[in-house]
Amino acid sequence: MSSTILGIRRALFACVCGMMAAAGLASCGGGHVPLPDLSASAVGDTAGLVARGEYIVRSVAVCGHCHAADPRNADGPLSGGMAFRNWRLGTIRASNLTPDPETGLGAWSEAEIVRALRSGEDRDGHVLAPVMPYAWFRGMSDRDALAVARYLKSLPPVRNPVRSRPSLVYRAARVFVLGPARPTAPVAPRPAADAEYGRYLANHVSLCGDCHTPRGGVQQQADLDRPFAGDASSPFPANPANLTPDAETGIGRWTEADFLRALRTGVNPGGDRIHPFMPWRELGRMRDDDLRAIYRYLRTLPPIRNPIPEKAAPPGS
Ligand code: HEC
Ligand code: HEC
Repeated sequence: MSSTILGIRRALFACVCGMMAAAGLASCGGGHVPLPDLSASAVGDTAGLVARGEYIVRSVAVCGHCHAADPRNADGPLSGGMAFRNWRLGTIRASNLTPDPETGLGAWSEAEIVRALRSGEDRDGHVLAPVMPYAWFRGMSDRDALAVARYLKSLPPVRNPVRSRPSLVYRAARVFVLGPARPTAPVAPRPAADAEYGRYLANHVSLCGDCHTPRGGVQQQADLDRPFAGDASSPFPANPANLTPDAETGIGRWTEADFLRALRTGVNPGGDRIHPFMPWRELGRMRDDDLRAIYRYLRTLPPIRNPIPEKAAPPGS
């Protein structure tokens, strides 16, 4: 399944850390992240938080891309089980995010969920596999992260025990080297159809940057010097497009209306269908102003020439 592939590059990171640990060379992290202060004084008005959380989980971050019980239905129950496999990681399964007390998040506090989401530190102080994109979510605001936690808590509990079988390499890396991420931005920019808010959404709430930024080097880390330049050799079923304003190889010639239409209909201005691995069906439900904000942010990026070869025709979607 496509999401298995999504985890491979992130998993490579864990492996490299493991090898460095074995060689006694370096540390990739360590320490614990304190629980966030989610009191009203820190977070502000909490009216409408569940609806905000539903919007983020279902249509912006699309957590169901990995956490849905049925990989074909990202909108279904988030009771987990999807497997991410490779030799470095072993088999890591996406967790059950429903509030079942034994197999899901029922016993977790909202602050514990927020910490796991943004730092990758779970309730027991273990670091989650970097398949879980906390490196991007770390910039999510307190209020948005709390909204996500509150929405998850409002879901019907589903009993579904999820068991991972981490490899030895990965288990060693988890103990000795992998560390949690530090949250960076407790307050989000004011929501508006502008580049500043678009930067926040595209990098820290939606996972546009995660998929569309090229990766390279031994650690297969995101090349943040070439943000959104696409990935010509991704392990995904389709290569993420170049979203920079380069006229030839990016989306420099797209109008804002073209961009909104592509995300809403899954058809780009050239008339080509967008592969469903790009979660346009869910992302296309984003509010006009949020999509405009992302478009306007993408226009501010340096245009990068990076032709992205096509991989395969989309399966009759
Ligand atoms: C690219 C795939 C992917 C996406 C997208 C994703 N996750 Fe995860 N998540 C995982 C995997 C895999 C794990 C299990 C990691 C492990 O066991 O080490 C996980 C673990 C978690 C955990 C820890 C739960 C526990 O029982 O330890 C929480 C909480 C979580 N995810 C919340 C979310 C939320 C909320 C979203 C959307 C805002 C999200 N995730 C998006 C893959 C993903
Ligand atoms: C799970 C990975 C993933 C995420 C998350 C993702 N994309 Fe994509 N996107 C892709 C892939 C892969 C393609 C290429 C699809 C194809 O070739 O048919 C793509 C294609 C596109 C295209 C079409 C470009 C073209 O030239 O046809 C646009 C526009 C786009 N993405 C924008 C976004 C935006 C905006 C976001 C965040 C709101 C986003 N994507 C999030 C993987 C992703």
